[in-house]
Amino acid sequence: MTVKNANPMWGGRFTSSPSEVMQKMNASITFDQRLAFQDIRASRAHCNMLVACQIISPSDGSLIIKGLDQIEGEISAGEFQFKEVLEDIHMNIENRLGQIIGPTAGKLHTARSRNDQVITDFRLWVRDAIGAINLHLLELQNTLVSTAEKHSETVMPGYTHMQSAQPVTFGHHLMAYCEMIERDRSRFSDAKRRMNQCPLGVAALAGTTFPIDRNHTSDALGFDRPTANSLDTVSDRDFAIDFLAAASVAAVHLSRFAEELVLWSSPQFRFIVLSDAFTTGSSIMPQKKNPDAAELIRGKSGRIIGDLTSLLIVLKGLPLAYSKDLQEDKEPVFDTYDNLILSICAMKGMLEDMKVNSETMRQAAGAGFPEATDLADWLVCNLDIPFRSAHSISAKIVQQAEERGCTLKELDLKTMQSVEPRIHNGIFDILSVDSCVSRRNSYGGTSPESVKEQIRQFRINNH
Ligand code: ARG
Repeated sequence: MTVKNANPMWGGRFTSSPSEVMQKMNASITFDQRLAFQDIRASRAHCNMLVACQIISPSDGSLIIKGLDQIEGEISAGEFQFKEVLEDIHMNIENRLGQIIGPTAGKLHTARSRNDQVITDFRLWVRDAIGAINLHLLELQNTLVSTAEKHSETVMPGYTHMQSAQPVTFGHHLMAYCEMIERDRSRFSDAKRRMNQCPLGVAALAGTTFPIDRNHTSDALGFDRPTANSLDTVSDRDFAIDFLAAASVAAVHLSRFAEELVLWSSPQFRFIVLSDAFTTGSSIMPQKKNPDAAELIRGKSGRIIGDLTSLLIVLKGLPLAYSKDLQEDKEPVFDTYDNLILSICAMKGMLEDMKVNSETMRQAAGAGFPEATDLADWLVCNLDIPFRSAHSISAKIVQQAEERGCTLKELDLKTMQSVEPRIHNGIFDILSVDSCVSRRNSYGGTSPESVKEQIRQFRINNH
């Protein structure tokens, strides 16, 4: 007796159909249809290998390939009907293949299980995703670099403890994020290199009795080699973890930058003005221009880290080999991909549109006696005073300026000499924010020259 609604792919020994709630819970088609093209690609490779190894006949092979081509066309055209009763993308496609070419469709699943099928598809998907993310990250870097180039001489306050510390150039600040993104790209590339092994052919968990050639499918799908242990392969989701971990670090970098844009665009800072395209108004306070895009980038890092955490927790108690828990691996990855791409694009758009108030930055850079370290350094170099004592002399001079409500440069020589008699007029040469930044030309420092060098290096490495 055939059970109504039993799964046509595995329902052979079942005497009743799954409950409604089971069907809903078990089905992954709502999200894993994103693997459709990877599934077809992997099926083509598997079919060609089965023919090459004389496991199925060439005529069956070409019938299957023709059917897969047709399905690919239907999916591209948006004509394919995804059915929840068929659970997942693998069975939806195989079922449709059966409708198109008849019982020969059943031969495609020879020497294959959904367990190796799903991770082959998923690895192919993650590999493509990494390629796309790396391109977007590179574009963001290009935007950072061209903005840094325009602002290699724009002076702004550099902070430690969020207190004015020493002046820096805005270009240097932007290049700091370019460095972070460089590491992000390298983390993604590492993940890609590590995951580029082909799972196809490990079957359900133990390999197969058919004389398959795993190198054949591995080569056809652009992997470096087949995976080495079937048990590890079907239960391994490290490639997804690596992806999510790299994405989490990248999202944290974007979030930190977003936080700075939020601060800088506030009326208290006014370092930058974000464009209307990346801000929103308030329905009650007419003066408001809220940096929503930056806030959302900051917020999305939370869900991306959550995606990593959720997959780690899914995995932590799983015995070898496959358990259905593993079906929970895809949504975090898709969610992270979508939101990371959005964040990168929004960040790039905000940077391209933003107006930089260089004069406001410069004025802010001059506040809080940022030349105090340079003053101490001058005492060391010109009066041969040990740095520790120079530090204390400089602090006393700062105190004098503070009491008089003036900058260090505005302080008269006499007052300085009341603290250290040997100080002479030469000191005024170094008491400006421009001199502070231009003299910091040590390798990796903030001087305009150094920023230009960083930009030059970036361009050499990325062309
Ligand atoms: N949709 C399933 C998943 O994503 C495919 C693998 C199912 N394997 C199984 N043994 N039921 O994990």
